[in-house]
Amino acid sequence: MNELDQIQDWLTEVVDISRVFASQGEVAAYIPELLKAPHDTLGICIISPDGQTISAGDVDFELTLQSISKVFTLILALMDLGEAHVFSKVGKEPTGDDFNSMLKLELVEPGIPFNPLINAGAIVISALIQGQSPQHKSERILNFFRLISGNATLEVDEEVFMSEAAHAHRNRSLAYFLKDNGVLTDQDDVEEILEIYFRHCSIKVTCSDMARMALVLANEGVDPASGESLIPRRYVQIAKTFMITCGMYNASGEFAIGVGLPAKSGVSGGILTLVPGKYGIGIVGPALNSKGNSVAGVHLIELLSRRQKWSMF
Ligand code: DON
Repeated sequence: MNELDQIQDWLTEVVDISRVFASQGEVAAYIPELLKAPHDTLGICIISPDGQTISAGDVDFELTLQSISKVFTLILALMDLGEAHVFSKVGKEPTGDDFNSMLKLELVEPGIPFNPLINAGAIVISALIQGQSPQHKSERILNFFRLISGNATLEVDEEVFMSEAAHAHRNRSLAYFLKDNGVLTDQDDVEEILEIYFRHCSIKVTCSDMARMALVLANEGVDPASGESLIPRRYVQIAKTFMITCGMYNASGEFAIGVGLPAKSGVSGGILTLVPGKYGIGIVGPALNSKGNSVAGVHLIELLSRRQKWSMF
């Protein structure tokens, strides 16, 4: 019996134990469409490079990637333009501020966003994605996500996209501020860039799609099924480092101590995480804690990581 067989025997029980914690959280309300998610949903999928898949809970539940998408748009921008260009536009440090904060853009020189996983940074990354038109850029992002997830049917959830676009006053302010201070250039149309950003945040997935995306990162950028290199190893290394330092918002330190794995969460309640060299993991659990991470999802991965001694540290 291998490790995943052993976990499978126990996984439904851990999901049931962790699901109880959802009652301590709230579903995100600032994008009204997200409020439709059932509060106590919880599901997990774990995939190994040889294709063994185990799962439990609400495995068919679909949510939008939200901030989890930022990891992969960062990678695409790096593949399009290289490290030097990308890091002339966004920094490499955590902020300690909320993900949608404007504070440091004004306080610290130069006014580039501190990192690509906060909203300001991800908006700048959206402006770096190459393509002949905004539509073409969004298509390239969607196709890249389809490639990494191995799911050619991934789509943008148009309702969530429209809901976010209609309630995006903070992101609009961030983008116009970035334009004013020259981080977004004269050629960058703010509304077009925001549309690219909202669209990639609204790509709809299940926990198994996220597990497959995470598996490519766990496997150093190589699709284990085909043996094809989809992402240069260096960019996987950069992405995983940001996931450790900034992936769980202002709870990234706490998560590194409690779980010890690279991870990225999103406001719809997804967590994409991985055990390097071993597994890709996707979790869905829409009720969020005060730091913006899935309450039940964090509880679940912490139980698993501790029991299986998965921490990298
Ligand atoms: O821009 C927003 O507010 C959402 N589309 C994504 C936010 C999110 O998941 C938190 N990000 N770090």
